[in-house]
Amino acid sequence: MKFESLVIHGGIDGDKETGAVNVPIYQTSTYKQEEIGVNKGYEYSRTGNPTRAALEKLISDLEEGEKGFAFASGMAAITAVIMLFKSGDKILISNNVYGGTFRVLDKVFNNFNIKYKMVDMTDIKNIETNIDEEVKAIFIESPTNPLMDITDIKAVSDIAKKNGLLTVVDNTFMTPYLQKPLKLGADIVLHSATKYLGGHSDLIAGLVVVNSEELAEKIHFIQNSTGGILQPFDSFLLIRGIKTLPVRMDRHIENATAIAEFLESREEVDKVYYPGLKSHPGYELQKRQAKGAGAVLSFVIDKKYDYKKFMKNIELITLGESLGGVESLACHPATMTHAALPYELRQELGIVDNLIRLSIGIENVEDLIEDLKKAFELIR
Ligand SMILES: Cc1ncc(COP(=O)(O)O)c(C=O)c1O
Repeated sequence: MKFESLVIHGGIDGDKETGAVNVPIYQTSTYKQEEIGVNKGYEYSRTGNPTRAALEKLISDLEEGEKGFAFASGMAAITAVIMLFKSGDKILISNNVYGGTFRVLDKVFNNFNIKYKMVDMTDIKNIETNIDEEVKAIFIESPTNPLMDITDIKAVSDIAKKNGLLTVVDNTFMTPYLQKPLKLGADIVLHSATKYLGGHSDLIAGLVVVNSEELAEKIHFIQNSTGGILQPFDSFLLIRGIKTLPVRMDRHIENATAIAEFLESREEVDKVYYPGLKSHPGYELQKRQAKGAGAVLSFVIDKKYDYKKFMKNIELITLGESLGGVESLACHPATMTHAALPYELRQELGIVDNLIRLSIGIENVEDLIEDLKKAFELIR
């Protein structure tokens, strides 16, 4: 089946008992056992639930992995993956990963002596020089959030394999429609499914897919032991969202490309970060490893202009955290998504105060450009 069919008929297609075309919401915590040790595959919903199982099979089919797991949030998914490691282990992370990923490593796992090192992964040599005996995994975001750096996932996975390390990819910005990290050699792919997979800004969810039975057993053990599972109703909502992923994503990209070109043409804008623009240093690599550039882009407003006023001026585009929904959102990374990073580190990375991130929705693109145009005119 091609991807567009798989999002609708993959996983568990409908309900065998009744013929319902959608997997029902099995709103139950426990299951009747025929006799001691005899059940129909389910005992308790932390361990397994049929609605969640349908979602987990679906994401595994879409990422072409061995098994999938659904969690209560993207951060719960990331936390479960980090729990694969033990005291003394070190993880190399992309140098502008999502602020929450940085925070959980810096402020939570640090207490358990699981270490991290930030590395600029756009240059593969930086990874090789940072591998020592403590390093056990490489955690990639590509594109990164919010500066849209592109990392060569296959090259990193090759280095990781040579050194006996796991490669983990946060595929939130791309989704399996655009990029399949496991096919590029990664071992684990994860998502904030809150974003494009859900697609409607109406749920918080996380997904993990692994490439081996051994990793599947470990992640399931962690999922069941620590309990950060996705609930049946949210699993249903996420299955429903995924069905329209390809059509939404096509429109997202069409709109984002037009807006990136518009921003590049404005004199109030110093720099646009969008891997779909030829001016982006990762343009060729992105084209090679993904089917599109996605619909998140960032730009820097020239210091001559008041970026705070610009943010006040936008109307159709909503000021808010998150991304990947049908509605366009604007975010101020320095005080919102990346506030957890110390000021000096933000400056060093390029997450400056006048950097704005947009998540381009699927509204009419002329309306979106008109909104931006008006916001620019009012700061001139
Ligand atoms: C790339 C990325 N990974 C992970 C997360 C965390 O996901 P959640 O908010 O669903 O916990 C986010 C949230 O913004 C994100 O953008």
